Amino acid sequence: MAGSAAPGGEGWSSRWAFVLAAVGAAVGLGNIWRFPTLAGENGGGAFVLVYIACIILIGLPMVLSEILIGRHGRSDAFHSVVKVAEDSNVSRNWGIFGGIGILSAFLILTFYSVVAGWVLYYVGVMGSDFLGALFSGNPFAGALASENPETIPSRMTDLFGNIPLLLGMHTLFMVLTIWIVARGVTDGIEKAATYLMPTFFVLLVLITLYGAFTGEFAKALAFLFTPDFSKLTPSVMNDALGQALFSMSVASAALITYGGYVSKETRLAPTAGMIAFADTGVALLAGLMIFPIVFAVGLDAAAGPTLVFQSLPIAFHTMPAGSLVGLLFFVLIFFAALTSSISLLEGVVAWAMRRFEWGRAMTAWLFGGFVFLIGVACALSLNVWSDIRLLGFWPLFEEKNIFDTIDDFVSKILLPTTAFLTAVFIGWRADKKLVEAETGLDGALFAIYRFLIAWLAPVGVLLIFVFAVFPNLVGQG
Ligand code: PHE
Repeated sequence: MAGSAAPGGEGWSSRWAFVLAAVGAAVGLGNIWRFPTLAGENGGGAFVLVYIACIILIGLPMVLSEILIGRHGRSDAFHSVVKVAEDSNVSRNWGIFGGIGILSAFLILTFYSVVAGWVLYYVGVMGSDFLGALFSGNPFAGALASENPETIPSRMTDLFGNIPLLLGMHTLFMVLTIWIVARGVTDGIEKAATYLMPTFFVLLVLITLYGAFTGEFAKALAFLFTPDFSKLTPSVMNDALGQALFSMSVASAALITYGGYVSKETRLAPTAGMIAFADTGVALLAGLMIFPIVFAVGLDAAAGPTLVFQSLPIAFHTMPAGSLVGLLFFVLIFFAALTSSISLLEGVVAWAMRRFEWGRAMTAWLFGGFVFLIGVACALSLNVWSDIRLLGFWPLFEEKNIFDTIDDFVSKILLPTTAFLTAVFIGWRADKKLVEAETGLDGALFAIYRFLIAWLAPVGVLLIFVFAVFPNLVGQG
């Protein structure tokens, strides 16, 4: 593919391919792992409410804005913004926020791949368990049937304690991601999305239906949807905003880049709506899948990043056919993670191909390699490097290991910054006619979009950001 180094030379083969790839980018570990983790840590309802508000008022107009920037610019996140700026007769320096987005994608992938590695490990655990059950003539056994339920969560600590395994899984996942991106837009990214995403949704429906009949469903509903406003601190709101942006893949290059491969005929607004709807739906379903189990087996909802991995296998242990369901569940998360990690790497690779005029395969392996190396540091921070504090001088990060520092720095600082600049750029600086034509919206719908992107999104992001990052302004953290 060295001949078509400019990403503008590649494109989706159909609108449907684009929709699947974009939904695949949005739906990922953010929905199934990060959302339940944060909802649990932040006390449930109030967090969920702010999260949903951020999705509708900020995330949705951001998705549309990014896809339109990409389609107009026909390039990567940086060069597309520059092109829109040029065509609007404003400074090319606006390209900087595209650049911060690319940096965010790069950083997200470093820890994302580590978590995806945990998923792969559980695919292995559940897979060998299911094969064992199958060959002993008992395919409908519960997961890890011979084990004591109390010892099942220790699988996670076993993994964290085993450096070769931890790094091996991270390596495997990165290699897979790089390999797909190196194959290109139609042969790699699009193909992966069109196989993986439909399978993902079938599995999701099956497992949710199955789960609705077990566990403490009512308690989970109450936890997720009864807001306790006393829990609504600026830092909870910043978590919710960061999660909304992270989960919808905005402010991090992916959607601008994918927008660059969209044909002029595709209508962008309905696609943006579909992405938002699918993404929110999957997050809420994941919550309704996980918290009934957490409450049923008496785990701590605020347990943090290991919650999903430790709680679900216990549920699969007691469920009929839990061994099979457990395997399917982790395969499902793995598919979701892969279609997202591809979009993260593509955001970086598309830019680097253009910037350095390199071929796709070489760029993917090189930049994927950099991501991999920083990912190793993230993985080791769960083990021997757990005491390293990258930003220890900054109160916001003083207790965070490398993994959490990168995650928090991106979602609390970089994503809100990029979201703010994108909104100001599209709402105030970009040519209004250009924006209107690209959205395909008119009349009242366009007016609503303009209001959201010019006023609500920037003001909302700014308020949340300032209060959370400078907590002394409001006298609390
Ligand atoms: N949205 C993805 C998820 O929820 C993660 C992601 C973030 C992907 C930013 C691309 C860009 O898992």
